[in-house]
Amino acid sequence: MNRIVILTGAGISAESGLGTFRDEGGLWTQYSIEDVATPDAFARNPALVQEFYNLRRDTAARARPNAAHLALARLQQGWRGDVTIVTQNVDALHEAGGATDVLHMHGTLAGALCNACAHRWPAPARMAPDEICPRCFAPAARPDVVWFGEMPYHMDEIFAHLARADLFAAIGTSGEVYPAAAFVQDARRAGARTVELNLEPSAVSRDFDETRTGPASQTVPLWVDDLLKG
Ligand code: OAD
Repeated sequence: MNRIVILTGAGISAESGLGTFRDEGGLWTQYSIEDVATPDAFARNPALVQEFYNLRRDTAARARPNAAHLALARLQQGWRGDVTIVTQNVDALHEAGGATDVLHMHGTLAGALCNACAHRWPAPARMAPDEICPRCFAPAARPDVVWFGEMPYHMDEIFAHLARADLFAAIGTSGEVYPAAAFVQDARRAGARTVELNLEPSAVSRDFDETRTGPASQTVPLWVDDLLKG
């Protein structure tokens, strides 16, 4: 066994104090996706959308990686083969925990993107509703996050990794959002062993060879220990 692909979701950052989306009290119980996480929402009410992401950027900037993020970085350093981390999270806690080459398929709060000319640059702490692009000067800057109805980032690269995977793990993700929820099936087709680490069984648990339940800060370090012990 050589190549490991790991998909992470909001559950891995929950114990760092960042809310998940669909759990009790989660972001999508407080806001509606249609109001804050679609291109139409931004066109209709840029102030509301920018404020939603300003708040999330502020909370994420103050969060610290937990034992699960640190364990995945340890796995990347200690494993003799490839360990690719694909995250749906827009926080930077994998990198803060020491992980490298993290594929942010839903973008990142740390980035800004111009809707007019596609220029990318580091986001300021707060973005205004009519934030100016520093390259084309259009008041069309938005958070560099992927909204519902948009194509996730790095898909070719992710599918290439899945097609070569020997082991696929999904950590802290509900299995409700595609295409990420189907990665387990892509990995299975490639012949990979599949394991889910989640607080509770997810919507797609039956697709995995093994499900380990519990908080990520406990299950992930133990799983990494098992792998590194061989
Ligand atoms: P969800 O909120 O849908 O799911 C979080 C999962 O983490 C749930 O299955 C929880 O049981 C689990 N969980 C909660 N706390 C945990 C803990 N301490 N340890 C382990 N697991 C825990 O979040 P995602 O699956 O990441 O997309 O959501 C996927 C996408 O939907 C997000 O990237 C976002 C959202 O809409 C966009 O905004 C495009």
